[in-house]
Amino acid sequence: MATTIHPPRDPNTLSNYNKWISTHITVNFDILFEQKKLVGNVVHKLKSITDAESTDIILDASHVDINNVKVDGKASHWELLPPLEPYGTALKIKLNDGVRLNDMVEVDISVKTTEKCTALQWLTPAQTSNKKHPYMFSQCQAIHARSVFPCQDTPDVKSTIDFNITSPLPVIASGLPVRDISKKPQLDGKTLYQFHQQLPIPSYLFALASGDVSEAAIGPRSVVATSPDKLRECQWELEADTENFIHAIEKIVYPYAWGEYNVLILPPSFPYGGMENPIFTFATPSIISKDRQNVDVIAHELAHSWSGNLVTNASWEHFWLNEGWTTYLERRILAAVHGEAYRHFSAIIGWKSLADSVEHFGHDHPFTKLVTDLRGKDPDDAFSSIPYEKGFNLLFYLENLLGKDKFDRFIPHYFTKFKGKSLDSYEFKATILDFFQRDQESSKLLDNLDWDAWFYAPGLPPKPQFDTSLVDVVYDLSNKWKSLPDSTFQPQPTDIEGLTANQIVVLLEQIHLFKEPLTAELSRILGDVYGLSKSENIEVSNLYFQVGLRAGDETVYKPTADLLGKIGRMKFVRPLYRNLQKVNRPLAIDTFEKNKDFYHPICRAMVEKDLFGERGE
Ligand code: BES
Ligand code: ZN
Repeated sequence: MATTIHPPRDPNTLSNYNKWISTHITVNFDILFEQKKLVGNVVHKLKSITDAESTDIILDASHVDINNVKVDGKASHWELLPPLEPYGTALKIKLNDGVRLNDMVEVDISVKTTEKCTALQWLTPAQTSNKKHPYMFSQCQAIHARSVFPCQDTPDVKSTIDFNITSPLPVIASGLPVRDISKKPQLDGKTLYQFHQQLPIPSYLFALASGDVSEAAIGPRSVVATSPDKLRECQWELEADTENFIHAIEKIVYPYAWGEYNVLILPPSFPYGGMENPIFTFATPSIISKDRQNVDVIAHELAHSWSGNLVTNASWEHFWLNEGWTTYLERRILAAVHGEAYRHFSAIIGWKSLADSVEHFGHDHPFTKLVTDLRGKDPDDAFSSIPYEKGFNLLFYLENLLGKDKFDRFIPHYFTKFKGKSLDSYEFKATILDFFQRDQESSKLLDNLDWDAWFYAPGLPPKPQFDTSLVDVVYDLSNKWKSLPDSTFQPQPTDIEGLTANQIVVLLEQIHLFKEPLTAELSRILGDVYGLSKSENIEVSNLYFQVGLRAGDETVYKPTADLLGKIGRMKFVRPLYRNLQKVNRPLAIDTFEKNKDFYHPICRAMVEKDLFGERGE
């Protein structure tokens, strides 16, 4: 009997993964820093999942240079299909013989990356911390793996991976070093680095970095890797919390499955806060704030080791299953380590960013839905805090509806049932309904829940009751600032005594929200009296500059421009440029021209759009 072929449920891949599944990938790459290229070959072991006539294998590919393709050792016919942006030029490989259900085929593709590769950034020595060596790193999420090598670039397919990478500099990858023989010196002064990822992972978790990095322990199963001149401060920032975080989440879900949990602190052009690459989380150096106040990012990326990396959204339309669950688990970790009030504090900050995103897109915009329609769309364009925070709110709502004890029993069940698999929102719903089926009271509550509204209604969900104990004090202080200059309030350094950096962030957010901006003079006083202008915590200095720019305080213009030359994290860079250009456009343009080569290609393109519209290069 012929098997039924379902259309792929991921609309953002051109691969025919409904007929073939790549079960194992061997990636052999030589890192060529002078040419800014990866050169080598990639071997897919593909399994046929249909017995219908299937003689074509279609893989995603984008801006890669393909030399030849072998199928089971023999040269084969292949072609690149016409470009279909934003999905690229798919690679179609013809098989000579028909195959049957469960047959295996080995496809070996010789490939080079090109300068148009969207996943890789290549840095010159001058762009690195100690300025001695070049550096390269990848960022594949959401659909950039296809610009590194042809693959089934969908979170709905998982493969084990062997990495064989030669480089003149240390290499980091999303696999464990192969025991005993992970480093083999080569004749040309390079070293072969070998890694193996034995748990199946989707393409977007493929990761590579190479540069002058060394490692230091931050816990019994964790190291931090970074430029040798930054190693000690990165170690200090992370060594107090990492193992506590792992321990906390292991109690909530189940033991950590990946062996080691490490963190690579990248050069400052890394465009995100963090990326949950297995074995090695990639993170921005802006979390190294010398006050251990930005380690929430680590709790978040660590939580992805369960939500996302073991249990994965089947397509980017169900991205909340990755990010909403991760935000929920991140806050459970924070509650376990710092107390329940802290979880609520974090959720209140999250609610504000949710409200900001809904405001930004518009209350009826389809991207404000929890489950989105991404047919024909670029998942990066739909990216916002909505899947994070609306997703968190659905899970928090379920926790309160069922009671924490009952919800806590569901968590390990869910992460066990889908371990190593990908799922969509409908399977999530079916699973929780099924789990509580025999508990009449819970079952009734779940049946009566308006699932369609949660999944498909645009705009804000119902606002929960949060514990405001950690924000009340901040709101009181911001109200005093609001009353100026008419009141007798005299700002003193003691106003912020005992407040955490994150509470100061909330204070600045509130001040930034005032209908009337502060006067330039008051903004300067705010910075001077509270010592904000000199903060090492970039979350604080970023927001202080935002307040100062809005106030027209010229003394922050230069420090803002200086900061824009030091950091490439889009969360800070884009808003700072947008606001700097409002008060001093020539300075904004000048700053961009000076720094554009420093930014990651994605960040550069975004800022260019923000400053000049769609002019292109
Ligand atoms: N996986 C995301 C980053 C990402 C999402 C990269 C979509 C590319 C496409 C990561 O886990 C993340 O959410 N990072 C946040 C950290 C934060 C929420 C603590 C970031 O970069 O700001
Ligand atoms: Zn995340």
